[in-house]
Amino acid sequence: MTTGHVFIGTSLDGFIARKNDDIAWLTDYPTRGEDHGFNAHMARVDGVIMGRGTYETIKDMRPWYYSKPVVVLSRSLTQADIPGEIADKVEVMNGTPEDATQRLGERGWTAAYVDGGSVIQSFLRAGLIEDMVISRIPVLIGDGISLFGSLDADLMLEHLDTKAFPSGLVQSLYRVKR
Ligand SMILES: NC(=O)c1ccc[n+]([C@@H]2O[C@H](COP(=O)([O-])OP(=O)(O)OC[C@H]3O[C@@H](n4cnc5c(N)ncnc54)[C@H](OP(=O)(O)O)[C@@H]3O)[C@@H](O)[C@H]2O)c1
Repeated sequence: MTTGHVFIGTSLDGFIARKNDDIAWLTDYPTRGEDHGFNAHMARVDGVIMGRGTYETIKDMRPWYYSKPVVVLSRSLTQADIPGEIADKVEVMNGTPEDATQRLGERGWTAAYVDGGSVIQSFLRAGLIEDMVISRIPVLIGDGISLFGSLDADLMLEHLDTKAFPSGLVQSLYRVKR
């Protein structure tokens, strides 16, 4: 089965986007050319599993942002909704986190970058996230789309590392305890 790995930026108050999907507070934050490890993270995964919400916010990016296959979890989209230019790079999958990791594991994926607030939450609930790199931007945005949500039971994490960058971004690596 494929393991899930999170790499995500949040406001200090725990949001990944405003309610209207605006993430300028994150993308425009001046990080002075620092390497926060995104390329190294991409190198260790076989592809990306993202929610339809995240896909909707990046689908018009050209050139296409991802060097590895992207699977969009959705019950409302079909493959016919994916624009022709990226149809060979993006696959719509209608299934639970368990189905998706099972199917991708059968294709040889050992590790997947799991992205999108609701999708990360459902993978956490399903016990399919192995580790999380969370980069906190020193800003409070007050309201928005939360990274974390309700759980059936507490989930214990092991803190492995925290780095504070000169820009003020603070990045922590956690492993989910089994
Ligand atoms: N700060 C960051 O680093 C970062 C990273 C990624 C995303 N974002 C932002 O986060 C926002 C999107 O997050 P989000 O939480 O709204 O949406 P999301 O998790 O990306 O997508 C949720 C959608 O995925 C589909 N889905 C299919 N299976 C699912 C499952 N098992 N669990 C949950 N959803 C499933 C559903 O759409 P259907 O109705 O089609 O089934 C659901 O509405 C965007 O604003 C994006 O820009 C920020």
